[in-house]
Amino acid sequence: MNFSIVTSEQMYALGKRIGQILVTRDVIVLDGPLGAGKTTLTQGLAEGLGVSGLVTSPTYVVSRVHKPATSGLTLVHVDAYRLAGARDLEDLDLEQHGDFVLVMEWGKSFAQELGYEWLLIEIDRSSDALDESDPAGGERKVTMTGYGPRWSNLKQLLSV
Ligand SMILES: Nc1ncnc2c1ncn2[C@@H]1O[C@H](COP(=O)(O)OP(=O)(O)OP(=O)(O)O)[C@@H](O)[C@H]1O
Ligand SMILES: [Mg+2]
Repeated sequence: MNFSIVTSEQMYALGKRIGQILVTRDVIVLDGPLGAGKTTLTQGLAEGLGVSGLVTSPTYVVSRVHKPATSGLTLVHVDAYRLAGARDLEDLDLEQHGDFVLVMEWGKSFAQELGYEWLLIEIDRSSDALDESDPAGGERKVTMTGYGPRWSNLKQLLSV
């Protein structure tokens, strides 16, 4: 499934939509270069989930845990780049969070290795790379690919 996302507001809205349909144990893998919009999408996703706390890039930490404001799902936000291997993810003891969803940046190979079902969201910003007047601005191409039965009907899930 492909989306053209022209503004950061649209990226946030896409994240929010995804956050609204998640259920416990869902795994989202985000891929994209620096400044692609991974954090922007995750912030929207957090609002869609209803978790509290400011979502930032999980730089310098392996994971950040955002609890639901009332009842609901905990958001565990992991930077897989900080993990030496998939086993490190198991060491995070995700089960302790009860009902949670996992958003993993750069986690493609780990998701596969651990046998998860996951939704891969790839953000490509190459089409705006030449606009030097506005380094952060421009269109993103977002590609979503579902792995496993949970994600087999993405269109229906997202109602788009
Ligand atoms: N179409 C767009 N989609 C997403 N972000 C956009 C878009 N156009 C401009 N932006 C801007 O690009 C920046 C994206 O930053 P963001 O922190 O979300 O990226 P990131 O992928 O998390 O980067 P990093 O890997 O450095 O953490 C923001 O400043 C945002 O306002
Ligand atoms: Mg980020």
